[in-house]
Amino acid sequence: MKAVLIVIGVVMASAALAQEPAELGRTLLEDHCASCHAIGKTGDSPRENAPPFRTLSRSFDLDKIQGQLQSGLTAGHPDMPEFKFGEDDARVVAAYLRSIQE
Ligand code: HEC
Repeated sequence: MKAVLIVIGVVMASAALAQEPAELGRTLLEDHCASCHAIGKTGDSPRENAPPFRTLSRSFDLDKIQGQLQSGLTAGHPDMPEFKFGEDDARVVAAYLRSIQE
């Protein structure tokens, strides 16, 4: 019985580790950005004017966006609450953004 519980614990721990960076990024964007921006591959932004994230590569260099997320993206963004991501969060958010570009 004990052995079975240990096996279950190991399986659950490795499932958490195996979560894709991009999925973690999506979760962060859901928490902080989805009230205004469309964050998926389809759908309109809840807030008029807020660009859907899948179109960001039209105006942004996604190779640079990680640094911009860390220093704060306020330029051209008057309505938006100021936000800054830590290095790890910025990396997974950038990975997610790359994965959804159309
Ligand atoms: C309260 C609503 C709101 C929230 C929350 C919000 N945004 Fe925005 N965002 C906007 C609006 C509105 C615009 C368009 C601003 C404009 O073009 O003047 C915008 C534009 C942008 C742009 C494009 C800026 C440009 O110069 O083209 C990026 C990138 C962006 N948002 C990222 C984010 C990220 C990342 C988050 C979450 C951390 C977020 N936004 C959360 C409202 C919001």
